Amino acid sequence: HRHLTGIAGLQPHEIMFLLDEAEQWVDANRTRAKSDHRLDGLTQINAFFENSTRTLLSFEIAGKRLGADVVNMHAAQSSVKKGETLIDTAMTLNAMRADVIVIRHGSSGAVQLIADKVNCPVLNAGDGWHEHPTQALLDALTIRRRRGSIAGQRVVICGDILHSRVARSNILALTALAAEVRVVAPSTLMPAAVEQMAVTPFHDFDTALDGADVVMMLRLQNERMSGAFIPSTREYHLRYGLTPERLERAKPDALVMHPGPMNRGVEIVSSVADHPERSAVTEQVEMGVAVRMACLDVLTRGERGVEGWA
Ligand code: CP
Repeated sequence: HRHLTGIAGLQPHEIMFLLDEAEQWVDANRTRAKSDHRLDGLTQINAFFENSTRTLLSFEIAGKRLGADVVNMHAAQSSVKKGETLIDTAMTLNAMRADVIVIRHGSSGAVQLIADKVNCPVLNAGDGWHEHPTQALLDALTIRRRRGSIAGQRVVICGDILHSRVARSNILALTALAAEVRVVAPSTLMPAAVEQMAVTPFHDFDTALDGADVVMMLRLQNERMSGAFIPSTREYHLRYGLTPERLERAKPDALVMHPGPMNRGVEIVSSVADHPERSAVTEQVEMGVAVRMACLDVLTRGERGVEGWA
């Protein structure tokens, strides 16, 4: 089975193929003109060991719009709470004859561990600090639709780069598609491995914003920090918060993005987050459904005897 555990395993043409596949679902979702049954009879299990609003709901909606029988496993209500191991949980899901499994987990590598044990495609819905591939795909689709292309776009990603699977997957996807990526973080939240990434690191947000086409803001992942690393939100906002004044340094038509959940008044102020022309935050959510439909379709083609992906 081919899994989607990260952007790292994908070739640039495969990323573009998934974006092209997602395009067909954008209008269909808007008009609800077309109902599709290509996943009829397939069972999709969404196993979420970490909280989610956008990813869980959009994977559920995406599966249902394609005709799948979708069931959700919330770890808080599962036997994980009784001490069942991840492998035993995976074998249980497998024994129920799932045709596709979508997993979110707090530990990096947990999704790969499950993918190695089950007999169906596994899609990573976010694992620890590692990757969140469908988030990067929906962000790339949003950028391509709003800016006309990804290649050559100056994308500034600002925030808690160290703990962010969204940043990691976006860096991989956007650099693979020839965007110019700048990452901005205080030194304590910048990964040591940044030198090995094809990005330019900045500590000063104002400098990094110069001529930006896209400004992608991330929240502080307090749940993944040890106490020593947590900056005060007031100080963080002063140095790294996106305000209308700061946004003026970017191109006049620069796009503002945030994967959510937002901490308003910390990394972004409401007038920017809700800006009718500049903000793509709700469009990102909309693209999430289309991208997840494409991923579910493409990854299950083998199960359905349909020609696989590009
Ligand atoms: N962007 C994102 O992954 O949001 P959720 O945690 O709400 O799924």
